[in-house]
Amino acid sequence: MTALRIALYNGKGGCGKTTLAWNLAMGLARRAPTLLVDADPQGSLGDWANWADREGHYAIAICDWAGLREGGQANHHYRVYDCPPRLDDDEIEGILGEADLVLLPVLPSPLDLWASRRSAEFVQGLQSRRPQLRGYFVLNQVEAHSALSRASQSAIAAMGLPVLPVPIGRRAIYRGAALEGLSVYHMGKRAAAARDEIERLIEEILK
Ligand SMILES: Nc1ncnc2c1ncn2[C@@H]1O[C@H](COP(=O)(O)OP(=O)(O)OP(=O)(O)O)[C@@H](O)[C@H]1O
Ligand SMILES: [Mg+2]
Repeated sequence: MTALRIALYNGKGGCGKTTLAWNLAMGLARRAPTLLVDADPQGSLGDWANWADREGHYAIAICDWAGLREGGQANHHYRVYDCPPRLDDDEIEGILGEADLVLLPVLPSPLDLWASRRSAEFVQGLQSRRPQLRGYFVLNQVEAHSALSRASQSAIAAMGLPVLPVPIGRRAIYRGAALEGLSVYHMGKRAAAARDEIERLIEEILK
């Protein structure tokens, strides 16, 4: 079975790769068996793996990059990679080299966007060799009702990667869920808005 492989990537740290990888994987696992690849040796996904195992009905498995290399991870419809905040070393090249879709979370400020420029260029370089690779920015931690500033819009336009039309809000529930080792799918009504936007993100990805 060939899985749809989705990488959360940005050389810039702290933009939401792990948060989105975790919640996306949980949402995808409601649809079909999903493998979450924790490619960040400093990442926190490893801490959540035991929980995910206990809740086996989510059909989510977590492994690290080395575990993936060892094989035996073929029976998944979706694979979500949480990349470490590094730009273009061998491991990143290995992950992005096998991805179908790269999502670059960015905070909607001109400084954060400019700090993501080299990562966007790296993805575009890969696309020039492999045009079927899809790459998008995902605006993360967007404040409610705030329009993207003109400076942010021009920073995005200058970088040549499209933005997925589903902004992810800045919501305490993302942190709260992570603190409990849970996803927004497990936080009841107070996570409804977060769940809705993750669902819309998934629908956009699966289009
Ligand atoms: N949409 C959001 N709303 C509120 N807080 C968020 C959101 N997305 C991420 N955060 C918080 O921002 C911080 C950084 O997020 P996260 O760890 O997912 O980023 P990262 O890109 O994986 O970082 P690193 O580059 O260090 O791996 C975390 O404390 C996380 O809980
Ligand atoms: Mg991370």
